[in-house]
Amino acid sequence: MSDWEHLDWQALAGLRERFLSGRADGVDYWQSDALISAYDATFAQRIGWKWDAVLAETKARDWQPPHATLVIDWGCGSGIASRALVEAFPELASAEFLFFDQSRIASTYAANRMAQRFPQSSATATTTLPDAHTCNKAVVLLSHVINELNLQQQTMLAETLLQAQTVIWVEPGARAESERLLVVREQLRTAFHLWAPCPHQHLCPLLKTPGSDWCHHFAHPPPEVFTDPNWAKFGKWMGVDLRSLPFSYLVCDKDLKRVTRRKMQPGFWDAPENIMAT
Ligand SMILES: C[S@@+](CC[C@H](N)C(=O)[O-])C[C@H]1O[C@@H](n2cnc3c(N)ncnc32)[C@H](O)[C@@H]1O
Repeated sequence: MSDWEHLDWQALAGLRERFLSGRADGVDYWQSDALISAYDATFAQRIGWKWDAVLAETKARDWQPPHATLVIDWGCGSGIASRALVEAFPELASAEFLFFDQSRIASTYAANRMAQRFPQSSATATTTLPDAHTCNKAVVLLSHVINELNLQQQTMLAETLLQAQTVIWVEPGARAESERLLVVREQLRTAFHLWAPCPHQHLCPLLKTPGSDWCHHFAHPPPEVFTDPNWAKFGKWMGVDLRSLPFSYLVCDKDLKRVTRRKMQPGFWDAPENIMAT
């Protein structure tokens, strides 16, 4: 764990500026273990709370993780998505985790943190882009990476993801990221069962009315955030409203046998009136 006393606030502020700019320049900005450790203690915790919300909803819909799983954390950063996954589904603690990032510092940090937190897991760091074969039958996690990819990279990634067993993808709740995730949903929806946010398999109605609204949700930070002086300092320095955790997301899976869904009648999700009601 990073010590709040020794966080490099200036470096964190630089990261924040980079994230907001959404630069897709392929630059490895993880300059040191200290920086990614500071990220893990701050920005990544907030992202983790979004993952907690997504995974709680996924669990509430009766999704069960596949057995004998490879989990790929794509663009892993400090690896918070994988840790949140195992917190929500402890049966995955013994799965094999592949931490992929363009940054060696990030992928190594993520694998080490995983091994510390869940010693029974198998955690490997890589900077080699997982191909379709590697993704075959894997659970692929993606988080806060879409605006660092250009559209060509995003399209190629979605094509590779077609081989996966499960894709769980969490992004900020801003319009730009949410709309890019909708494009991914379109690419994946014929190959996967869409679980969330909407469980219907049809074209998202928002795509028919561009500019009207965008799909986003809100997670809740733990209450202690509002009484902790370190988080208060973080909010002030970074210009972050600690109360607000907007996110967009996508959960899809191929195996219907594990999909019990809320015990709906066959054909339920195909009836337009039911889709409108969800
Ligand atoms: C904002 S960070 C998010 C990290 C982590 N997924 C999270 O949610 O905390 C984006 C990560 O994506 C990585 N990244 C960006 N473009 C990439 C690419 N083309 N291939 C692999 N990793 C990439 C960056 O190095 C960085 O670690």
